[in-house]
Amino acid sequence: MVTIRHPAKFSTPILNVLNEVIPDGLVLDPFAGTGRIHMLARPGRSIVGVEIEPEWAGMRPGTIVGDALRLPFGDGTVDCVATSPTYANRMADHHDAKDGSKRLTYRHTLGRPLHTNNSGQLQWGKKYRVFHRAAWAEADRVLGPSGVFVLNISDHIRKGKVIPVAEWHRDTIRGMGWTVCREIPVETDRMGFGANADVRVDFEMVYVFKREDHPHPA
Ligand SMILES: C[S@@+](CC[C@H](N)C(=O)[O-])C[C@H]1O[C@@H](n2cnc3c(N)ncnc32)[C@H](O)[C@@H]1O
Repeated sequence: MVTIRHPAKFSTPILNVLNEVIPDGLVLDPFAGTGRIHMLARPGRSIVGVEIEPEWAGMRPGTIVGDALRLPFGDGTVDCVATSPTYANRMADHHDAKDGSKRLTYRHTLGRPLHTNNSGQLQWGKKYRVFHRAAWAEADRVLGPSGVFVLNISDHIRKGKVIPVAEWHRDTIRGMGWTVCREIPVETDRMGFGANADVRVDFEMVYVFKREDHPHPA
C-alpha cells in the first residue's frame, strides 16, 4: 500500500465506535479519504469507499475514485452509509502561509490544488451547507428503507467561538426524515498545541440515524 499524507484520517477511538454501531451488509463511505473505513470489514460486512482525490482513493483497493454528490450506486442499494465529511475548519485553508510555514490542510498535505468539487476547501458558510445538503440527499437516495446512517463530525473553534457544525449536520439529516438513535461523544487525542491547535474542541461526535419509519436503535 502506498502511503500518502492526509490531514484528517479516522482515529482509533472513532474506528472503535464505528465498529460497534455499523451493521452487517453493504457499507459505503462516500468521503473515504485514505480508506480507513475498510479496516472494519468482516465476514457479512463488506465495505466500499468513494473518494474524489485519486491519490487517497488509491491507498485501498475497495475505494472508487468518484464524487459524493453523484454516487455510482442505485437507489436503495446500500445498507449503511458511515462517513466523516470535512469539518469546515482551518484544514480548508488553501493559501500558502506568508511566513512559509507548513499547514495541516487538505491542499497542503495532498501537495497540489484540490478537485473543484472537493469540500476540503470549503470554510463554514453557505457553500459548505449547500454542498452537504446535496451530499446527504445522495446518501439518502442510495440507502434502503431499513438503512443506517452513521456520521462522524466535529465542531471547531473560530475566533474564540465554538462553530456548531455537528449540530447543523444532525439537524439537517433529521430534517430529511431521519431519527437520531444515538449521539456518542468521542474523546479524541487532540492536543492543545501544535499545528491547527486553535481549531480543536475536546470531543468529536458520532451520530447514528435510522429512517423515521424504522427508528429502532442500530
Ligand atoms: C474527513 S476526510 C475523510 C478521511 C477518512 N475517514 C480517512 O480515514 O482517511 C474527508 C474526505 O472527503 C474527500 N472529499 C471531499 N469532497 C469530496 C467529494 N465531492 N466526493 C468524494 N470525496 C470528497 C476529501 O478529499 C477527504 O479525503
